[in-house]
Order: sequence, then structure tokens, then C-alpha cells
Amino acid sequence: MPPPTTITHVLVIGAGAMGSQIALTAALAGYTTTVQDVSPSQLDDAAAQLRERTDKMVKSGRLAAEHAERAHDRLAFSTDLDAVAPAADFVIEAATERLETKKAIFARLGRLAPPHAILATNSSTIGSSAVAAASGRPGHVCNMHFFNPVLVMECVEVVRHAGTSGETVETTLELARSLGKAPVLINREVPGFVANRLMGAVQKEALALLAGGVASMEDIDATAKTALRHPMGPFELMDLVGLDVVDYIAQATYAATGDPADAPDESVAALVTAGKLGRKSGSGWYSYSR
Ligand SMILES: NC(=O)c1ccc[n+]([C@@H]2O[C@H](COP(=O)([O-])OP(=O)(O)OC[C@H]3O[C@@H](n4cnc5c(N)ncnc54)[C@H](O)[C@@H]3O)[C@@H](O)[C@H]2O)c1
Repeated sequence: MPPPTTITHVLVIGAGAMGSQIALTAALAGYTTTVQDVSPSQLDDAAAQLRERTDKMVKSGRLAAEHAERAHDRLAFSTDLDAVAPAADFVIEAATERLETKKAIFARLGRLAPPHAILATNSSTIGSSAVAAASGRPGHVCNMHFFNPVLVMECVEVVRHAGTSGETVETTLELARSLGKAPVLINREVPGFVANRLMGAVQKEALALLAGGVASMEDIDATAKTALRHPMGPFELMDLVGLDVVDYIAQATYAATGDPADAPDESVAALVTAGKLGRKSGSGWYSYSR
């Protein structure tokens, strides 16, 4: 897809797991891209990891060496938001999941970014309505929710809040398509948007089936894969996402809805308390040899 005509420079805030890959995706798609983070060491790590990633892609034949080099030439890293924000046409905020942090970032972006710039947040749990007013340009604000790992996953949820303009929605969808993604539009903010709600519903049912002794977790996972063609079973997926993340999302959803049906699952919380966070800690629902 051709890029939206109004966008040449993408600014990504946060060089963590998501921000770094969002930035590389934008650079590979031809955008002049800057990644800004408050932590210089995080920026150094991100730069090294992205270089490793493209080296692997080149080695395996998935990416031409020249294309990779050009993408790296387009990619800049900075700790100085004041210096980089004035050049941005589109900002994707992927900083730490804390409302106060995001509000402060949106307030600064509102002052620093050019008036036409769209300000999107990649947050999984914070709807953009929570940061829109701070930016002073609520019509230019929406969620642009990527999935992990960004370089692989095609879906991007574009979520509008009540004041997001039609033009902002269209430009954001167009940008996502130009990144090679398959965006979907979510017309209003609901906790978990669509993908995490679907995943949550499957997880909730799987946990209830296990707790009720209906089937073992291995057999529930096997059923999801062999009957429904899910690439992973719900317990395997929870281990991959991280049980702390699963628990956090449930807590945030419950806090937003107050619906007892959304209350965090006790067996997940018990695993988190025991330090069993899934693959990343070596065990969760399953054990993983390191
Ligand atoms: N991890 C996932 O699977 C996932 C998936 C979809 C969306 N998200 C969302 O993406 C966002 C980032 O998640 P992540 O997993 O990449 O987090 P992360 O912890 O890996 O990275 C966050 C980065 O933000 C930086 N940061 C903190 N405060 C900042 C500030 N004021 N200015 C600039 N940088 C700042 C930190 O130094 C860190 O490098 C969150 O909003 C999260 O909800 C995460």
C-alpha cells in the first residue's frame, strides 16, 4: 500500500518490546523513523536487537541486505523528545503501561508535535480517551494497537474514542496498511478491545473446564488445536503471553467493568504469586527446560 501522503516521519515513544519492533516495521516500510526513550541503555539494547533481527532475516532470505541497510539508515534513536517531536507527522506511543506516564507524554507531544500530527497510543488497556484531553488535540488521538511480535503479527486494532476525527481514523488505517498490516476498526472503547476479549473468553472457558475437572489442560489445549485449528491451546498461549500479563489484563478489565464475571482467575493469580509466569520464568501451566 502507498503511504498516506501526509506522513513521512514516524516517531515511536518507548524502545521496549513493542516500540522497537514498531519502529523497525515503519523503517522497513520506508518511513523516516525515530525511536525516543528516557533510557539510553534501552535505546542501545533496542538498536542492537533490531540489527540482530534484520541480520537473521537477511540470512534466512526473508529480507534483502540492501533493504535492511536502507531501513537502518532511516532509523534514529534519541532520548530528547523536545528535539525529535517537532519533525513527527505521526506518533506511536509505546511507553510503559502507566496512565500518568502516558498522560505526561501526550501533554508534551501536544505542545511539541506539529499541529497536523496524529498521536496514537499502542496501549492494550488504556483507551486513548484517557490521554486525549492532555494532548490538547483530542480529534487527532486514537489507539493503534499492535500485537506481539510486531514484525510477524498482521492485526492492528485502530480504536476511536468518542472525539476521534474521521480523518484521524482513515489516516491511521492507511498508515497501518502501508506497514503491511491488516488493520481493523473498533468503533468504541471497550476493555480489551476485540482481540483480547476473544482471547479472554476462550481463556475463561478453558479455566472453568479445567477447574470443573471436565478435561486436563493438555486435552483442552489439544482440542483447541485439533478441533478449532487454533495454533496454540489456551494454556500454552497464557504461558507465552506471561501469566503476570494475563493477570494484569484481567485486573484492568475488572477495574473498568466491575463485573464479577471479569474478576481475575484465582488459579492464574496463584501461579503468579508462586513466581510461575510462563515461558519467561521457566514454568507456568507447563514446565519449560531452559
Ligand atoms: N508487550 C506486549 O505484548 C504488548 C502488546 C500490545 C501492546 N502493548 C502495549 O505497548 C506498550 C509498551 O509495552 P512494552 O511491552 O513494549 O513495554 P516495555 O516495558 O518493554 O517498554 C516500555 C519502554 O517505555 C520506556 N519509557 C517509560 N517511560 C517513558 C517516557 N516517559 N518516555 C519515553 N519512554 C518511556 C521504558 O524505558 C521502556 O523502554 C504498553 O502500553 C503496552 O500496553 C504491549
